[in-house]
This record gives sequence, C-alpha cells and structure tokens, in this order.
Amino acid sequence: MSVENRMKNYNQNSSYQLHLAKLSTDLILQAISRVLNTPSQTYVLADYGCSEGLNSSILFKEIIGHIENLTESNFLLFFNDLPFINWANFFKVISSQEAFISKRVFSSAIGKSFGEQILPSNTLHFGFSSLAFHWLSEPVPKYTRLEFNHYNEENAQIGIRHYTRLLELRYQELVIGGQLIFITLTFLGEDAIYEFQKELFNQLHKKGLITEEEALNFKYPIYLLTSEQWDKVLETFAGRFKIHEKNIRIIPKISLISDESQLKGMLETLSNAFFCMFKDCYESVFQNRENKEEIIDIAKENLKEIVAEKVMKQEFGEGNTICIALEKIS
Ligand SMILES: C[S@@+](CC[C@H](N)C(=O)[O-])C[C@H]1O[C@@H](n2cnc3c(N)ncnc32)[C@H](O)[C@@H]1O
Repeated sequence: MSVENRMKNYNQNSSYQLHLAKLSTDLILQAISRVLNTPSQTYVLADYGCSEGLNSSILFKEIIGHIENLTESNFLLFFNDLPFINWANFFKVISSQEAFISKRVFSSAIGKSFGEQILPSNTLHFGFSSLAFHWLSEPVPKYTRLEFNHYNEENAQIGIRHYTRLLELRYQELVIGGQLIFITLTFLGEDAIYEFQKELFNQLHKKGLITEEEALNFKYPIYLLTSEQWDKVLETFAGRFKIHEKNIRIIPKISLISDESQLKGMLETLSNAFFCMFKDCYESVFQNRENKEEIIDIAKENLKEIVAEKVMKQEFGEGNTICIALEKIS
C-alpha cells in the first residue's frame, strides 16, 4: 500500500497547529513586551515542545521581531522537545535562511522532557509553549472497557497534578519579572479531539487491527482541564505568579465554510493535524507490529473519513484554545 505522506514529517502536517497558536498572537506579543521591564544584557527565551521547528521558527521571528528594535540586548533561544523527535529536520529548519531573525539571536536545543526542570533556576525571561503541555507526564490508568470514560475523577486529579507540576518547574526556571505564556486546549463540555480518537480506536478494533487485549491496555496520554480546573491550578500559585491572561478562544465550525475546495483543504489539514497527535498516542499499541506502517496508513485513511463525516454533520463542535499568560512576581 503506498500513501504519499506517511506523517513522518511534523512540519508538513502542522499548519492547523500554527493557525491555533496565531489566534493568540496579540497576547503573545503583549507578553514579550513585558519582558523589557526586566533589564538584561541577554534575554533567555524557551519554546517547550517545539517539534520539528517550522511553526516555532515562524512564531519566534514574530515574537523577537516585535521587541528587537526596542532593545540592544542579545537573545538566547532554547528550543525544547523530547530526545527522540526528528532533530535533523529541526536543525535544517532552524539553520535555514528563512528562519534567520537577527545576528543578536543565538539558538540552542534541549532534547529532554519538559516534565523536568530543563533550564537553571532564575534564568528564563520568556517561556512559551503551544499545544504541547497537554501531553501527560504521568500516565493515566488503562482503558479497561472500550466505552471507557477518560474524563473521570481519577484522571482529573492526574491532569491537575500534571499541569501544576509543569507550572512549578517553569516557575523555578523563570527570573522574577519573567513571563510564561502557553497555549493549550481546554475541556468545554467535551474534548472533540478525544471523541475523534475514540471513534478511530473503536473502528480499528472492530476491523481487528487492534486486539481486545491491546484495546484494554490503552492509555490516552492527553488530558484537558476545564476552565474551573485551571482556576484551581492557578490558585496554588497565588502570590508567586501574577495572572495576566486566562483567555479562551473559540474556533468557528469548519462546516460553515461554503467554498467546496477550501472546505476539502481544511478537512485534510484538520485530519493531518489530528493524525500527528494520534500516531504518537498509538505508538505503544503498534510498536511491536511488523505491519505497523500499513496499520498507520489504514488508520490515517479511516480518520479522514471520520473527520469529514463528523464535520459535515456538524457533530464537530466548536473547538477552542486556552492561552494563559503569567508573570513570576516573587
Ligand atoms: C502538537 S506538537 C506542537 C508543536 C509546536 N509547538 C506547534 O505548535 O506546532 C506537540 C509537541 O510537544 C512535544 N512534547 C510532548 N510531550 C513533551 C515533553 N514531555 N517534553 C518535551 N516535549 C514534549 C511533542 O514531541 C511534540 O513535538
């Protein structure tokens, strides 16, 4: 079976992720402007979960470009992701002419989980992350049933612990006056991406591509908090972080696009973006399979159909992003 794009390259399948990050451009630029209130010869910036670098380099060009003429300081930019991503692709992007920002910008990469402290304490001026913090550092329990309810109380506690820990680590890394701004997804009545994943998982199970045992051992490694749960997390940082923003942006329904070719393109972009995510979620299920590539291709085709059907039936509710901007104040 031959499929052109085997989803190995994140950069080619992440235009939707860039679109989501850009919904919060105004808040990101306000946060980088606040960094200038803390004088420093070198500003240290980090992107947690930068993946293969394309979206990250586009965003940081805009972020640093926004303040570059307002300061004579240098910028030291740390790109972070897990050790086993395709760093070769990343370095190709980052060293390209298009990614060049200024002679005063120096870049470095850290292949280590952001579930640990990855920078020395009190050194970071601007911490950024887009669509990465929802990957849990502590695994949730196994499915146990195919109709398993992921959004249960036990998982909620794991989720709250996870995000609190990530903020605690970033708090350690930041200087006083340092800014942390991150974009993730939030649970507003449902997690539409989880619902897509569940449908895909059940279809693969029905086709015999996922065995009963594999299905019952599955752990979905993502958890989204509700707005109220975010308040709980943020409360634990009272007096240490000032909250500048906790802003939820709603993504309009895609089915409302009337131009057919535009709609087709959007569906493709959307299913590619989701598949990038699910492929990593299913890694543990498929890792020892000889026909892993073939199953991945079938899953990708199935997902395209599911996305098209749900979007056209308007079953794909409005998605959302949550952007949280914090300043370390003590
Ligand atoms: C959906 S991609 C987002 C990439 C990029 N920020 C963007 O907006 O296009 C999520 C990234 O987070 C990374 N990631 C997940 N868990 C991580 C962890 N614990 N530490 C570092 N990176 C992690 C993944 O490897 C992946 O590259």
